Order: sequence, then C-alpha cells, then structure tokens
Amino acid sequence: MNNEDLTKPELEDEQEEIIENTLRPQSLREYIGQPKVKESMKIYIEAAKKRKEPLDHCLFYGPPGLGKTTISCIIANEMNSKIKITSGPAIEKPGDLAAILTSLNEFDVLFIDEIHRLSKTVEEILYPALEDFALDITIGKGSEAKSIRLKLPKFTLIGATTKAGSLTTPLRDRFGIVQRLDLYSTEDLMKIIKRSSKILKIKIDDLSSMEIAKRSRGTPRIANRLLKRIRDFAIVLSDGKIDLEITKKTLEQLEIDEIGLDETDRRLLKSMIIQYGGRAVGIEALAASLGEEIDTIEDVYEPYLLQIGFIARTPRGRIALSPAYEHLGLNHK
Ligand code: ADE
Repeated sequence: MNNEDLTKPELEDEQEEIIENTLRPQSLREYIGQPKVKESMKIYIEAAKKRKEPLDHCLFYGPPGLGKTTISCIIANEMNSKIKITSGPAIEKPGDLAAILTSLNEFDVLFIDEIHRLSKTVEEILYPALEDFALDITIGKGSEAKSIRLKLPKFTLIGATTKAGSLTTPLRDRFGIVQRLDLYSTEDLMKIIKRSSKILKIKIDDLSSMEIAKRSRGTPRIANRLLKRIRDFAIVLSDGKIDLEITKKTLEQLEIDEIGLDETDRRLLKSMIIQYGGRAVGIEALAASLGEEIDTIEDVYEPYLLQIGFIARTPRGRIALSPAYEHLGLNHK
C-alpha cells in the first residue's frame, strides 16, 4: 500500500501498530461489517473513477477502534491513489498544513485523524483548499500585505473524528460524503477474529472466537488485542492453541467480564449508582470522580454502555439504567 504516515507512533505502541497494520484489510471486499458504509462507498468510488475525478471529501465518525483509518486506506487503494496520514493535533500551524497541501499530487488522499482538533487558524486554510483546491497565502505585513492564491492539485480529504458534533459547521459542510461507523455485531467480530487468527497463524476454535467477540464491546481493535493476549496465555500455559478454557482464564486475568466490561466501566457504573445514588450525573463530575478525561469517558466508555442500555443521557446528565444494576448485582431503588 502507498501509505505515508506523518504521525509517528509512540515507541511502546510501535509493535502493536505494526500488527494492527498487518491485520488491516486492503480492499472493500475483505472488509467485514459496516454494510451500509461499504455499499455506498463502493458506488461513490466507482462513480468517481468513471468520471475520472477524485472522490468527494469524506468524513467518517464514530467511536475509536471501528476502522476509520482502515476504511480510509482502503478508499485510497480502491481509487489507486496514494494516502498521506496525519492528525488534527499534529498540524500545529497554518504553515504545517500548507506544507502538506503543497506536497500532494493530483488524486492523492489526505487523511486527517481527530479532525475536530484542528485549530481555527489551520481550519481556515482548509476551506479554500477543499472548495476550490486553492491555497491562499498572505505575504508582507500591515498595509503592504498581499494575498496570493496558489493552485493545489485536486485531492480528496478524508477526515475522521470521534466527535462529529465538535466539528465547526463550515468544516462539516465541506464534506460531500459523511458516514457514521457503528459498533460491530458479535457475528461480524467473530469473522474478524477468525480472519486475524488466520493471518497471525493462531489456531482457535469457534467457541473461543465467539467468546472473544462477545467481550469486545463491538470494537475490532479490542477483539484483535484480546486475541493477541489470549494467544500469549495459550503459548505459555498450553500448546499455543486457543480453546475456551484459556480464553476464559485470560479474560478473567484481564478483569474483563462476560459482556466485555473492564475495571473502568464497572467503576464508572458504580460511581453513578453508589456515589451519586443513581441520580443524573454531569460528565465533569463523573470524570473528576474517576480520574479520567471527559473525552475518554465520552469516546471510549460511553458508546458501548449506551448501546447495551446500561446508561442513558438525559438533559440533566447521565443515569444508570436497570440492566446496569442487575449486572453489578446492586438493588435498583
Ligand atoms: N480487522 C480490523 N477491522 C476489520 C474489518 N472491519 N474487517 C476485516 N478485518 C478487520
């Protein structure tokens, strides 16, 4: 794949990153799940190719680990284009973005992860780039200042965000294609686990892949991480083959319960139920009680708890619902 990652991974994440890349499907045909996104992207890609034009700018949003980067790399592949990967926080100054934009070639894909974190001044450079494939540069200062317009190659921006609501309206409006990625079904996660096992040459039975799928909170990245940890246990404790016993043992060790909740999920629910007495709690108060970032709670923990009906958002804050009480063995007042 023609893939230039402008964001360097942290050193300790590098190994995980390499494995994650080897597991990434390269084509829409290989991509499991997200049927609606897949079907519409297939049409848009085919149409753009027939028109001999770059694909319209795309925005993908949804919780982390669902494959926003993966699908962007696939789109570039399917368009026979090169992709440049960067992120909102990595583009600090307007000049940084100008440098990236002027290095693009016709039909390239520019992928900006966490696009909601672009600064206002950087974002303003992006508007004419997206709309007119133009870069406006100011030279000189004060009354001498002059604006010149540079022509940019026709490119496709793909933005990814966990927070579509945090995007400014002018930026959101410049994406012709906006797609939400949903949490995956257990069946699709099972297929992903089987596919990853094959690539990583791990022997695993159906019951174990089902068990991992059920405990992966609808998220392929979690499923693949669990698979790798369970493989470690299987190598050390038995013959390297993954069976249900090793799977359950590893998950118990990782303190991941039958429905995939981890220690932080449980602390979050207990805080809502016990500390705040089951009343509506504001996200700021919850974050402070748990010592977690607000964004982490909103992006990482809440989507799954909302999806399984353990919590609800109300105008006055978050509340825990009956299934959460039952799961934790607590009485619902
Ligand atoms: N690995 C991670 N996500 C995947 C997906 N959606 N399809 C296939 N393999 C994957």
